[in-house]
Amino acid sequence: MADDDKRLAAEAAVGEVRDGMLVGLGTGSTVAFLIAALGERVRDGLRIEAVSTSIASARAAEALGIIVHDFAGVARVDLTIDGADEIDAQLRAIKGAGGAMLREKVVAAASDRMVVIADGTKRVNAIGAAKLPVEVLPFARSFVAARLEALGAAVGLREGGTDNGNLILDARFGRIDDARALAAAIDAIPGALGHGLFLREVDAAYVADAGVVTRIERDQRPR
Ligand code: A5P
Repeated sequence: MADDDKRLAAEAAVGEVRDGMLVGLGTGSTVAFLIAALGERVRDGLRIEAVSTSIASARAAEALGIIVHDFAGVARVDLTIDGADEIDAQLRAIKGAGGAMLREKVVAAASDRMVVIADGTKRVNAIGAAKLPVEVLPFARSFVAARLEALGAAVGLREGGTDNGNLILDARFGRIDDARALAAAIDAIPGALGHGLFLREVDAAYVADAGVVTRIERDQRPR
């Protein structure tokens, strides 16, 4: 079952957490298992502190006794563990089904190491079938939607806002032939504040499939 695999992937990644680390907490249902496992280890004496990519993850961690700092006062994180919607063998990912991809990308960039945890349904040959979320300044909603459509996407406005008070446009490209070019094109749209293409951020992934966890490590090239 996907939930068992999410838990297994999360528990495997918790093995990377060491005393004294500042840990970045991702967002989503797989990260919920991570927070539960970390909470147990903290109860057993592990000494860590955390920053969070969402208000929801921060609340869940604090409820288990984990100290969560405001990321606004933090410039560097030891290890961040986060989920993904799609991930390929080159560790390129689509994230943001939970709407937290902008904070997730900032925290990933600040992290010495960023690890994805996922069940096997998230593993793909090529990223692009999942909707690609784009966080948008409300003022620029229609303009950014039109620019995304011009890039080939079917665009939908998600209900609700982000933790940052912005909106999310879900862009469906169906397939993405050149992810780097697409990321650069979206980065260049004024009013588009962040998107769910994580092409270089992920250093490793723990993917659990039918009870078996596989760790995929990015090769040692600089990112
Ligand atoms: C949050 O915005 C996302 O990036 C999640 O990390 C991603 O959607 C994976 O979520 P699940 O673990 O719930 O599938």
